[in-house]
Amino acid sequence: MVHYQDKTRYFGYIRGVRTVRYSEVSRVACSDGVPLSCLACSFIGNVETAFRLMSEKNSTPTKLLAIDDDPGFLGLISAVLSSDNLQILTTTDAETGLDLFARTRPRIVLLDLVMPRISGMEVLEKMVSADPATEVILITGNYSTESAVEAIQKGACDYLPKPVDVEKLRARVASLIADAETRRRTFQLDAELIEAYQFEGIIGRSPLMLELFAKLRRVGPHFRTVLITGETGTGKELVAQALHRLSPAKSNPFVVCNCSAIVGTLMESELFGHTKGSFTGANQDKLGVFEYANGGTVFLDEIGELPLEAQAKLLRVLQHQEVQRVGSPAPRPVNVRVLSATNRDLKRMASEGKFREDLYYRLAMVELKLPRLADRKEDLLLLQRQFLSKFAAQYGKPITGIARRAQICLGRHHWPGNVRELENVIGNACMMTNSSVIDLPDLPESVRSGTHPGGGETDLVSFEELQRRHLLHVLERIGGNKARAAEILGVSRTTIYEMLARIEGEQQLHMAAAARRAGAS
Ligand SMILES: Nc1ncnc2c1ncn2[C@@H]1O[C@H](COP(=O)(O)OP(=O)(O)OP(=O)(O)O)[C@@H](O)[C@H]1O
Ligand SMILES: [Mg+2]
Repeated sequence: MVHYQDKTRYFGYIRGVRTVRYSEVSRVACSDGVPLSCLACSFIGNVETAFRLMSEKNSTPTKLLAIDDDPGFLGLISAVLSSDNLQILTTTDAETGLDLFARTRPRIVLLDLVMPRISGMEVLEKMVSADPATEVILITGNYSTESAVEAIQKGACDYLPKPVDVEKLRARVASLIADAETRRRTFQLDAELIEAYQFEGIIGRSPLMLELFAKLRRVGPHFRTVLITGETGTGKELVAQALHRLSPAKSNPFVVCNCSAIVGTLMESELFGHTKGSFTGANQDKLGVFEYANGGTVFLDEIGELPLEAQAKLLRVLQHQEVQRVGSPAPRPVNVRVLSATNRDLKRMASEGKFREDLYYRLAMVELKLPRLADRKEDLLLLQRQFLSKFAAQYGKPITGIARRAQICLGRHHWPGNVRELENVIGNACMMTNSSVIDLPDLPESVRSGTHPGGGETDLVSFEELQRRHLLHVLERIGGNKARAAEILGVSRTTIYEMLARIEGEQQLHMAAAARRAGAS
């Protein structure tokens, strides 16, 4: 994960935990022999934790299952891969292989493509659907680009031709073991880092969120009014609760009023209260939100929906710290802090005459703008981990992780609904899955297809990339039949072959780069 390499600033102290420079971390990580990617996905912050986990060794050997009808090949595999941190199981029979797989749950499987009775592709599908975290390498004497694409689409992590290049196989297995170890350590680190990287229940470790935490710490003890803005699902209510807890009024009431949920005519009575008989149905005196929250905090959610008449009265409350109940001229003193939130542009509304400008400035003595999830993707992994633990516990399922291809998909999505959307996606996936790992089919179509209705520019790709994606999509839909794909796409079969060869070339380059990176660390 190269993106950390150019970051060299200190992060100072986070909740009393010493933090270090990225460059310092990379040096330690490399000298300790732990791949940098281990840290790249979740490290920052708790140095002691990271150092301790890095120095721990996983004593259990990784299980590798090899299935091939040629006993000579199995002998060769056992000989060349033999090592202390690998437990090798072999069988010449695919069905026995599936049985062994179910009983021993190997991390890595080497699988022959052509076998009597049951094909390698079928075995691959069964294994990946039983445990998407399994790394299956298909090995074949009849290498073809089509079957390579099919294998990768069905979830294989690699596809190697026979005779096998022994050095290449060794390197590949070693990098898979390193990846598995990375994930194990990341899992432990994440649990501890969620603790280190949450502030008053708000999770984040991106520079944008660390900046927000610093502001909350500064503003919390002193604010009278704060306007919290940000797109839907960015955590505005969470921030409001945090500000109240950080204020000197934390032991007094925190009262929420959703301005969009109250009928216009009842708004003033709801906010400021009313006296008996002041309107039809007012059978007794009633406290409004402000009097009820006296000494504490009022949170006016969706403030952009407040009718203009109520805006004038609210301004009076803020200016004079007193309310007048509907039907009574008597002012009643109140001492409240006022937090308000909106996903609308209040300043623009003010310039269009839809919101009082003077009220805007009163409410926004401090303005906190919450970043979109798409602008702080560094937080995705921690948030995913947090929601995974939450929903796994809620549904009583032993879910431990997210498959790599699902992870890639989540990373690519634009998250127009921000953290709430992510929470819903992980919640639904945890409810649907029968496995211990969330995989692609557990994700909603909008996330899998990578459509971004919310705008942004990440969906603006070149024609070439669009063609590539569309070709793979079509092939996936029709089970890899190239002649049919050529018909559907209105091009010759040769064009399809050429495009697939290009994609394969890119994939190999990509895999070689990944293997080089793993080897280098
Ligand atoms: N940084 C975060 N860490 C953990 N959970 C978060 C974070 N941000 C948001 N959430 C969770 O996401 C959900 C939506 O958050 P919240 O209701 O505060 O968003 P909002 O900005 O008020 O959304 P809306 O504008 O739609 O009212 C909640 O379940 C909240 O707990
Ligand atoms: Mg809200």
